[in-house]
Amino acid sequence: MRPTRKTQVFPISSILVGVLVIPLVVLLVIFLVQPTAFSSSSFSSSSWETTWNPVASNDTSNSRSNYSVPSSTEDIWQPQPSQAPVFTFANNQRGAPAPAPQIFGVDDEVQETITQQVGPNKTRFMSGSSQLEKLEASLGRARSLIREAANVRNKISTHQDPDYVPRGPIYRNPNAFHRSYLEMEKLFKIYVYEEGEVPIFHDGPCRSIYSSEGRFIHEMEKGNMYRTRDPDKALVYFLPFSVARMVRFMYVPDSKDRHGMKLTIIDYVNLIAQKHPFWNRSLGADHFMLSCHDWGPFTTSFVPLLFHKSIRVLCNANTSEGFNPSKDASFPEINLKTSEMSGLGGQPPSSRSTLAFFAGGLHGHIRSLLLNEWKGKDRDVRVYEKLPRGVSYEKMLKGSKFCLCPSGYEVASPRVVEAIYAECIPVLISDGYIPPFSDVLDWKTFSVQVPVKNISDIKNILMSISSRQYLRTQRRVKEVQRHFLVNGPPKRYDVFHMIVHSIWLRRLNIRIQDLLT
Ligand SMILES: *[C@@H]1O[C@H](CO)[C@@H](O)[C@H](O)[C@H]1NC(C)=O
Ligand SMILES: *[C@@H]1O[C@H](CO)[C@@H](O)[C@H](O)[C@H]1NC(C)=O
Ligand SMILES: *[C@@H]1O[C@H](CO)[C@@H](O)[C@H](O)[C@H]1NC(C)=O
Ligand SMILES: *[C@@H]1O[C@H](CO)[C@@H](O)[C@H](O)[C@H]1NC(C)=O
Ligand SMILES: *[C@@H]1O[C@H](CO)[C@@H](O)[C@H](O)[C@H]1NC(C)=O
Ligand SMILES: *[C@@H]1O[C@H](CO)[C@@H](O)[C@H](O)[C@H]1NC(C)=O
Repeated sequence: MRPTRKTQVFPISSILVGVLVIPLVVLLVIFLVQPTAFSSSSFSSSSWETTWNPVASNDTSNSRSNYSVPSSTEDIWQPQPSQAPVFTFANNQRGAPAPAPQIFGVDDEVQETITQQVGPNKTRFMSGSSQLEKLEASLGRARSLIREAANVRNKISTHQDPDYVPRGPIYRNPNAFHRSYLEMEKLFKIYVYEEGEVPIFHDGPCRSIYSSEGRFIHEMEKGNMYRTRDPDKALVYFLPFSVARMVRFMYVPDSKDRHGMKLTIIDYVNLIAQKHPFWNRSLGADHFMLSCHDWGPFTTSFVPLLFHKSIRVLCNANTSEGFNPSKDASFPEINLKTSEMSGLGGQPPSSRSTLAFFAGGLHGHIRSLLLNEWKGKDRDVRVYEKLPRGVSYEKMLKGSKFCLCPSGYEVASPRVVEAIYAECIPVLISDGYIPPFSDVLDWKTFSVQVPVKNISDIKNILMSISSRQYLRTQRRVKEVQRHFLVNGPPKRYDVFHMIVHSIWLRRLNIRIQDLLT
């Protein structure tokens, strides 16, 4: 649906951004559920199949209960006066490049405590709570180890590792990241819900610009890494549905009828909340979904708790569409044309003869600004809507110094990872986009960010980067590559593990307490 695009980034001197400790709030949430005749037996596989069909979905809707969707979030959120400091991510300054969530450098006791109140009856779920306390205690220890590691402001991690030792300015804090990564490997356990059927659940596209969605779901389904079959041992709960698949199987193109998708997502979360105690226990805060489709954020909006409370791992990490970096994670968009990653490596810096390159369709307002300003106008800033015959897209990436990555119909661009693979410095041109892994990676050190209002200044901005600075930045692009590599099976520190690490960080940021016990 979306063609590939290019982005621009602005290399900025590496400055570690201090973390603001935000005073915290304990949210008591009232879980509004429309009580209706609902039995889990009505969720046999055959009834799931009917909901996939948007045409049939209206017929079945009456027999299903659903969450009532409040008209505003105030209806469900009741923020209480701050009772506990929260371990949360602070935004930098207003208007600055995407605020990066981070936990490193936070020194207080920092968790958002998730408590719940599910009606007046507090007699259920006694079992499992001491298990939960144990898990929370282990997270508490991990937090203090990470915090301690964050105080060591070394350029190189001080921890041992046979495979890789994080170092250098691409990391906000290499030592804290490394400690956190190692703790994740030791402790992190993910439970994957088994309800739902392929192709919408437990499966997803493994090629195309949506490949991140399918690759991750498949990896979790295989169960070789992080997965636990015992939900009482899990730190997070995965809702393995594919938004790209929902769009493909349930949405009639151009129909604007997303009713089938809506029912499916509502029914599914309802089922999970009825059948298992875990959703109610945290009001979804230790649950995650992921999507690379433009409609990922929109799809989650049908279940307010999923939107506002759960961890959403989204390619479309648009802060103007409710992406909240303190609880949501930015998902890299990777355009896999085959099941293998391709395009690694490029010309050495001295042979990169083109200053900046972009080729891609006129999608969205940022592209149109870029094309209007630069298409066919400049020998150094080579911007195409359509590449001329005989010109290879890959060769252009590999032979350019900077690769422009403007947002298209949504904020993320597969060009960012394409540029990183081709060792071309990505130039991000976007509004409200939080790039992937910005909780641990300092994007300013290996990319350039050009504000949308400065599209006409692109050439000046890029020309003003000295060759020393260019070489430094390009070297860092190569260093950061490993975190974007797609491997089957995954290898330590590659994109799969980095995504899991983003989720781990967000789970570290909350504390679940089961008030029902
Ligand atoms: C399903 O219901 C919605 C809302 O009531 C309506 O807009 C839509 O046209 C219906 N779809 C079909 C296929 O009947
Ligand atoms: C949700 O439930 C209400 C009341 O039970 C019902 O009127 C409504 O049609 C349901 N909506 C959907 C989308 O099923
Ligand atoms: C709470 O649940 C128990 C057992 O399910 C039931 O006997 C009791 O009446 C309920 N109390 C309230 C206040 O609903
Ligand atoms: C979770 O809460 C909802 C709403 O209060 C309730 O209908 C559902 O039965 C609860 N789930 C479990 C497993 O008790
Ligand atoms: C981000 O979200 C806002 C609000 O929905 C929208 O206006 C804007 O176009 C989005 N950005 C992109 C690049 O899609
Ligand atoms: C970006 O645009 C603003 C306003 O148009 C201008 O003042 C500023 O100098 C530009 N920045 C660069 C680096 O060109």
